Amino acid sequence: MTGSPPATAAHRPSPRICYCRDVDEAAIRAAIRAGAGDVDAVADRTGATTGCGTCRFDIEQLLADELARAAERAAPAASGRGEAPS
Ligand code: FES
Repeated sequence: MTGSPPATAAHRPSPRICYCRDVDEAAIRAAIRAGAGDVDAVADRTGATTGCGTCRFDIEQLLADELARAAERAAPAASGRGEAPS
């Protein structure tokens, strides 16, 4: 066998989002999942956006993605998905 084993999600490095505060995507997603519901809350928890501010758009995108995922996780019960067929 040659080379490195294939990267898996668990082994793939998380991309850096905020270069000023050295905050990566995983830390931002974790902050959102822990309750940060807007950019200011993410900033409070991680420090991202508190330097030059150019990462703000990327954090808004991560917020939208995480909030959409949370809505999808909540949706199966409301939409009937996940229920056993009758
Ligand atoms: S890159 Fe995030 S504040 Fe500068």
